[in-house]
Amino acid sequence: MIRSLIIGTGSYLPEKVLTNKDLQKRVETSDEWIQERTGIRERRIASDKEAASDLGVAAAQRALEMAQVKASDVDLIIVGTGTPDMLFPSTACLVQDRLGANRAFAFDLSAACSGFLYALSVGDQYIRTGSAQTALIIGSEVMSMLMDWTDRSTCILFGDGAGAVVLKAQRSRRGILSTHLHSEGSFWDLICVPGGGSRFPPSKETLEKRLNFLKMKGNETFKVAVRTLEEAAREALEANQYTAKDLDHVIPHQANLRIIQSVAQRLGVPMEKMVVNLQNYGNTSAASIPIALDEAVRTNRVKAGHLILLEAFGGGLTWGSALIRW
Ligand code: ACO
Repeated sequence: MIRSLIIGTGSYLPEKVLTNKDLQKRVETSDEWIQERTGIRERRIASDKEAASDLGVAAAQRALEMAQVKASDVDLIIVGTGTPDMLFPSTACLVQDRLGANRAFAFDLSAACSGFLYALSVGDQYIRTGSAQTALIIGSEVMSMLMDWTDRSTCILFGDGAGAVVLKAQRSRRGILSTHLHSEGSFWDLICVPGGGSRFPPSKETLEKRLNFLKMKGNETFKVAVRTLEEAAREALEANQYTAKDLDHVIPHQANLRIIQSVAQRLGVPMEKMVVNLQNYGNTSAASIPIALDEAVRTNRVKAGHLILLEAFGGGLTWGSALIRW
């Protein structure tokens, strides 16, 4: 059976660090509150010169290097992002140009924090059907551009960064075993950026109403996140006739440590098997899973033969999973 093998991973985090103590100077909050309620200690912030394509290119170059694949051999580039460089052209086309991946077709995918998993699933379909042999899947976000730095309930949560994987078609028992995706549009207003699109095009009025910033109903989102992540994990395990005990690692979307702990507890997975790096980067939306995966690979935490579950949830609402035999 033809499967997608992940043959390279890469990530890039901007240099600038914004700590909880730095945020104390901007809004009424404390390092203690942020750590206790979210687990986050610091996050990275892109420079004025860095857009989503810049972060994505840096992560992609590292993934291609690990995979020992030339950019000109890539057939497909998908960028999961909610913070593209421009409304169009796609960030993926800008990445394609910068990498010199001149044979690839390229497009963006919008699924908020589930963007990487959605992109991975779509890339996997192209590979399984033989329509692509080598795919570059990227999650890249400049979430700081969406932050209302006067809103303490959101501005403490997010950070900037990018992660990437190279998929290769191979006849193998390893690779991506399954992906499952879900959406529930009736919950669209739990996490949204109302302004800047065709509903509320940028204007003096939309800026005054701060519609260009991310809005979130944190409490409700929290509950839905725990439920959907548990369901997504069970669905992936059942579809492949595994149980939670068979998992070597779970790489969840890095939104909140308490969400990750609740999901681990519900599934009966010990916290040692949950890959967590949100203390350093906050919620990097579509970039969070590939950044955590890249760190786990480069620190030899992930080894050949391991069974790994990736799972995400985010605005839309969107959620899903990918089960991988490494
Ligand atoms: N510092 C201090 N106090 C704060 C802060 C802050 N930064 N933020 C909120 N508070 C206060 C609130 O005003 C409230 O005060 P009140 O009781 O006097 O009204 C109190 O703390 C409790 O607020 P809650 O919102 O109930 O706090 P909660 O424990 O739910 O934590 C949080 C908030 C961290 C946002 C949590 O709800 C959460 O993580 N939700 C999930 C968010 C998420 O995972 N989003 C991911 C998807 S994002 C995407 O797709 C792009």
